[in-house]
Amino acid sequence: MPSTYFKRFRMGVDLAAWRPTRPLPRGYRFVPWNEALLDVHARTKFRSFRAEIDATVFPCLGDVEGCRRLMREIRGKPGFLPAATWLVVANDAAGDLEWCGTIQGVVDRLGLGSIQNVGVVPGHRGRGLGTCLVEQALGGFRGHGLRRACLEVTAGNSRAVRLYQRLGFRRLKTVYKVVDEAGGTGQRDGSLTPADTHLVAEAACL
Ligand SMILES: CC(C)(COP(=O)(O)OP(=O)(O)OC[C@H]1O[C@@H](n2cnc3c(N)ncnc32)[C@H](O)[C@@H]1OP(=O)(O)O)[C@@H](O)C(=O)NCCC(=O)NCCS
Repeated sequence: MPSTYFKRFRMGVDLAAWRPTRPLPRGYRFVPWNEALLDVHARTKFRSFRAEIDATVFPCLGDVEGCRRLMREIRGKPGFLPAATWLVVANDAAGDLEWCGTIQGVVDRLGLGSIQNVGVVPGHRGRGLGTCLVEQALGGFRGHGLRRACLEVTAGNSRAVRLYQRLGFRRLKTVYKVVDEAGGTGQRDGSLTPADTHLVAEAACL
């Protein structure tokens, strides 16, 4: 079965040296984690990722049911950290709530703050929301007493890579994620495939 390899960077930032850089733009506010919002996170994640490269790398991101399963999996991790898990909401012209962005954080087995997914829906990008969400999660990690935070990003996702570099993240190593035909394109029923959960090869540290 043909496979595609996606290059990904593991990046890290020192939280002792980190300082927040900007507040949310006018008209937006953060909404903290609440169990009742799991499905809102899942749907906002789906709207943010469905047309993006990461929906190919992680097929569950291209499927709303896959995003629900992923959210339940993140929520169920022992290190799930509500203080690093946020939504951004705006009031639209009619005064209704419009969910614009999502981020989740966990404390990993090494005691690092690990950003799981950050996504901003297409109509609200380029206004600083992605930056503010990452900063909000980093503040949550620091408030929890953590000294370092990390994440993984697909190398071809240059907008995301630039955002993380601007916030002080540096590349730690390169990993490769294999996506086979079934996992990448055929199997879009929302289940988490092996391609969603396993890195298959590790390259030397940069
Ligand atoms: C990556 C992602 C989260 C960035 O979200 P965003 O809200 O657009 O991020 P920001 O607005 O903070 O920054 C993006 C750009 O807008 C610019 N920007 C920020 N505030 C701005 C403003 N008020 N006016 C104009 N531009 C602005 C930033 O300088 C940045 O420019 P750059 O791309 O040239 O570096 C978003 O594109 C996304 O959800 N992508 C799909 C999901 C994804 O790939 N997530 C990352 C997984 S690792």
